[in-house]
Amino acid sequence: MSKLFTPFSLKSVTLRNRIAVPPMCQYSAHDGLTNDWHLAHYTGLARGGAGLVIVEATAVSPEGRITPGCTGLWNNEQVGGMASIAAAIKAGGAVPGIQIGHAGRKASANRPWEGDDHIAGNDPRHWDTLSPSATAFGANLPQMPKEMTVEDIRRVRDDFVSAARRALDAGFEWLELHFAHGYLAQSFFSPYANQRADEYGGNNRGRFVIETLEAVRAVWPEHLPLTARFGVIEFDGKDEETLVASIELIKTMRGAGLDMLNVSMNFTTPDASIPWGPAFLAPIAKRVRSETGLPVATAWGVDVPKLCEEVLQAEQVDLVMVGRAHLANPHWPYFAAKELGADQPAWVLPAPYAHWLQRYEPAGPQ
Ligand SMILES: Cc1cc2nc3c(=O)[nH]c(=O)nc-3n(C[C@H](O)[C@H](O)[C@H](O)COP(=O)(O)O)c2cc1C
Repeated sequence: MSKLFTPFSLKSVTLRNRIAVPPMCQYSAHDGLTNDWHLAHYTGLARGGAGLVIVEATAVSPEGRITPGCTGLWNNEQVGGMASIAAAIKAGGAVPGIQIGHAGRKASANRPWEGDDHIAGNDPRHWDTLSPSATAFGANLPQMPKEMTVEDIRRVRDDFVSAARRALDAGFEWLELHFAHGYLAQSFFSPYANQRADEYGGNNRGRFVIETLEAVRAVWPEHLPLTARFGVIEFDGKDEETLVASIELIKTMRGAGLDMLNVSMNFTTPDASIPWGPAFLAPIAKRVRSETGLPVATAWGVDVPKLCEEVLQAEQVDLVMVGRAHLANPHWPYFAAKELGADQPAWVLPAPYAHWLQRYEPAGPQ
């Protein structure tokens, strides 16, 4: 039997297989509220067979949204829609997960298909952004953020805690803190974004990450997985230095109650040179796994069934995150089961599909 289709347990949660759908923003919310689009989208993904479906980056505060279309959990009104989504994911047989985050200086942007750049200052949809220091990201995101005061830092940490409580109330069983991709938490750790001279800068650039994690752990039940997505490499020529420092921080995160890491990239400077390729982060994930002792997952081009099986067999990762391939085909796990020669691959899908597909042969290539 393939490893991809063996269950994976973390704390009290068991995934039916090692396929996870990583968070993917739909940019389709209004005032942070989900709607029928989100419900249909996540329901379909769960029915498609993945073991874990992680709902998109959901903002902990209005100014923490990447775009005006991002989902939120900064008020109680937003819990109902998320509860329907969590229940639908569970009914589809997957574990319902959610990523919560704050976009920092990358917030206040247009949707990707409407420019992917900062909303102009004179546009009524624009809002002011926050960051550890008053340094802009640059390129398509030139807006100068406000340097956060210590009060701002504490407020955002508390916003993470409140959003985590709401995620729990909504029925999510797996929480991923968005500490990656150049958003607020990653910015705190990055010398490109954090030039603070106080207790959140210099040698203490990891402090925001640890304090936020600890505060969330205090309200997120011990028996449920608390995970984070964190960038461990910038691809800016200083990679060994960044990796070593990141691994040290991840060890501290483990001590603060982190259960698993979704290994990703920093994206804190537009000048990185990323060596895109199939499963190119998997060896880095393996290093994080072996040096920190944490289970790990990774995305980015881990989307061909045989490659997924290889990275799992090589113990580079414990879970594979299959993103865009699920947008192309929400039933991707069914096709992966067929390709890997699983017994009764159709039964990766729910009975109303599986019963018919088990004897179905398409007339030609699909
Ligand atoms: C439409 C879209 C939205 C995304 N939104 C998020 C997000 O909300 N949070 C996040 O951490 N990554 C996000 N990502 C990155 C994905 O989680 C994933 O890392 C990326 O698609 C690479 O994996 P893949 O090669 O399997 O697609 C997004 C990617 C896409 C394509």
